[in-house]
Amino acid sequence: MSFDLVFFGGTGDLTWRKLMPALFQAFRHGKLPEGGRILAVARDEQTDERYREWLKERFREVEAGKRPNDEEFERFASLVHYRRMDLSQPEHYARLKEWLGERNADTVVLYLATSPHLFTQICQQLGEAGLNGPKVRVVLEKPLGHDLASAQEINKVVRSVFAETQAFRIDHYLGKPSVQNLMALRFGNALFEPLWRRESIANIQITLAEGLGVGTRGPFYDGTGALRDMIQNHALQLLTMIAMEAPSSNDADAIRDEKLKVLRALKPFTAESVARDVVRGQYRAGNIEGKPVPGYLDEGKIPAGSQTETFVALRTEVQNWRWAGVPFYLRTGKRLAARDAQIVINFRPVPHPIFPGSSCPNRLIIKLQPEDGLELQLMAAKGGSSTEALSPVSLDLDFDKAFAADRVGAYERLLLDAIAGKLNLFVRSDEQEQAWKWVEPILDFWKQDSTGPRNYVAGTWGPPAASALVARDGHSWIEEC
Ligand code: BG6
Repeated sequence: MSFDLVFFGGTGDLTWRKLMPALFQAFRHGKLPEGGRILAVARDEQTDERYREWLKERFREVEAGKRPNDEEFERFASLVHYRRMDLSQPEHYARLKEWLGERNADTVVLYLATSPHLFTQICQQLGEAGLNGPKVRVVLEKPLGHDLASAQEINKVVRSVFAETQAFRIDHYLGKPSVQNLMALRFGNALFEPLWRRESIANIQITLAEGLGVGTRGPFYDGTGALRDMIQNHALQLLTMIAMEAPSSNDADAIRDEKLKVLRALKPFTAESVARDVVRGQYRAGNIEGKPVPGYLDEGKIPAGSQTETFVALRTEVQNWRWAGVPFYLRTGKRLAARDAQIVINFRPVPHPIFPGSSCPNRLIIKLQPEDGLELQLMAAKGGSSTEALSPVSLDLDFDKAFAADRVGAYERLLLDAIAGKLNLFVRSDEQEQAWKWVEPILDFWKQDSTGPRNYVAGTWGPPAASALVARDGHSWIEEC
């Protein structure tokens, strides 16, 4: 199958940091279909050769194991081309069409790795140039909108040019092998299904914690914040996969229909419940891995007195028969105590304890990163005496170890799926809009709430109010018990 893959924003960070290295991995693994061309387009005037040299330099910054040697780079680079494009000029789209028409590949993937404010303009121009035929797919990188209205506006334009089946909305978390394993855990195994409900589960915690700060992305991040950056998309996608009913098939729309039902069942926020159930924070100077790091307000290009949140913890519920009354706690933040993404399923305690000592309820920890695995915590007798208290023990599965050779990175998987036209791991517009609808009352409340984010010291687990949020229900975050 021949394909042409075009990166709009061909000299941007995303292209060289994530997309080109991921494509190179696919190439190295022999997974990139034969007969492909990769075209980077951007504003600068340069030749294929100069672009390839530039890319080679950039590749030096990629982590060692994923860096091509000279010979590999030459072979990969022969697929890579460059064209200058001014995205506001119709004749530049006509020239792109000509270039693509030269060999009429089976599939054309147009990846918008630009600033999102250009999405509507690019899509309109692609439509006017007739670059929206049935062979064409458009990939839209997050963030898709700033709020419900802007997301709807983007979707309206995308839909006026492309069919929904041509639109590939990226949430790179869905490309992670550990996240795909959530589907395998729930729907490839019958073991947990009878327990996967309110009768057995006390609460569910989704944590997406980062040790890094905002780095060089200050201006972008300051206009975005943790709620839009991580909760509206990554955390909610994980929640839908945990809470959804079994889809009737492994087909993109069957899966996305079920995820959408979960988003629609999320308890809507009111001003009162935002004040009670949502905690926002901003990091102050502290220590990460023993090294001092500056506070958010001292990071590059952050406006003085910024009230942008770098941490969010919230409590919600999925209002349906399976989950009624079970708290779902979500939290994310920068400069937290560890880089740690995991989902903790806390089961209910035994109804009537018969052993001495306190018994810890069972717990399933789904580790997403940095480790990828499952840990099931159980109680066991050591066998020392008839009066002994039970001890917690763990069944620990390490998927990285078990499947090391077969693991494929998130962007590699998503790029290959976009080329193959497989939509399962991409977000449908109605899911995305429903997620915006749900977070919007939080954004509205914060706009008029002058108290601003609570401080937390870099290297901790966020403001103490996040612990209080969970303690109110008689629960605690995993690191607290
Ligand atoms: C991105 C956010 O979507 O996800 C970043 O914009 C965040 O702020 C990143 O750092 C986290 O991704 P990962 O794969 O490193 O967990």
